[in-house]
Amino acid sequence: MTLRGKVAVVTGGSRGIGRTVASVLAREGVALTLCARDRVALEKVASELEASGAQVLAVKADVTQAVEVNQMIESCLERFGSVNILVNNAGITRDNLLLRMKDDEWEAVLNVNLKGVFHCTRAVLRPMLKQREGCIVNLTSVVGVMGNPGQANYAAAKAGIIGLTKATAKEVASRGITVNAVAPGFVETDMTYALDPEHQERIRSQIPLGRFGTPEEVAELVVFLASGRAAYITGQVIHINGGLWM
Ligand SMILES: NC(=O)c1ccc[n+]([C@@H]2O[C@H](COP(=O)([O-])OP(=O)(O)OC[C@H]3O[C@@H](n4cnc5c(N)ncnc54)[C@H](OP(=O)(O)O)[C@@H]3O)[C@@H](O)[C@H]2O)c1
Repeated sequence: MTLRGKVAVVTGGSRGIGRTVASVLAREGVALTLCARDRVALEKVASELEASGAQVLAVKADVTQAVEVNQMIESCLERFGSVNILVNNAGITRDNLLLRMKDDEWEAVLNVNLKGVFHCTRAVLRPMLKQREGCIVNLTSVVGVMGNPGQANYAAAKAGIIGLTKATAKEVASRGITVNAVAPGFVETDMTYALDPEHQERIRSQIPLGRFGTPEEVAELVVFLASGRAAYITGQVIHINGGLWM
């Protein structure tokens, strides 16, 4: 049931939820491969984690690029010999009302948030199938189930992740691989702070627990799903949203 000695890939590990997931996994003794596009920010996180005793491989990779993703997984296998956990966390927003939404806003969000999950999942499946063991955790969003004005692209991508999670879970369950999605509400990260303060206040007022979530709260759930303690959970969407959506 222990995570010690496992190997995890966390996409978008340089800030916010991904960075916090990386530090919780490191604390549990997991070796990490982290990716993001900003090499400097990523290497800073890697150095901090290494200073606390973790083994970290920082790879500058864009999840929209299948070649970069495949190379990242190859490097992870070369360095650590296996990949047991994939956390598909990298994500972006490009908000606009649908009537005004530009093609590039639609495509950017679908490419990072949905195609990126496809690329990374496909890349880890072969080694996980061979090992007959693995856990994949995908970051979806409350917006993927309840919608949000100005976020049709983001809602579509996050709803897509839910279908992708369930289909993949059914394909690989017989080989001991679990695939689940975590659906946070609004969390204290750059993504939420990019919303204007009035919008933030309006959302906060609709949350029964009266506050945004913390990256730590989301990370603890992700790490639980990535551990043997959640071995009988697969194909599920686990909500963590302060009661915003029930
Ligand atoms: N914050 C929330 O309230 C909230 C709520 C529900 C769901 N989520 C989901 O949780 C995940 C993390 O959100 P967050 O708030 O922590 O976001 P964040 O603080 O904006 O961090 C996003 C991370 O993804 C990386 N990234 C973005 N595009 C990438 C790409 N093409 N390839 C590789 N890495 C990329 C970023 O690094 P670079 O920019 O350097 O690439 C960064 O490390 C996302 O999937 C988000 O949709 C967040």
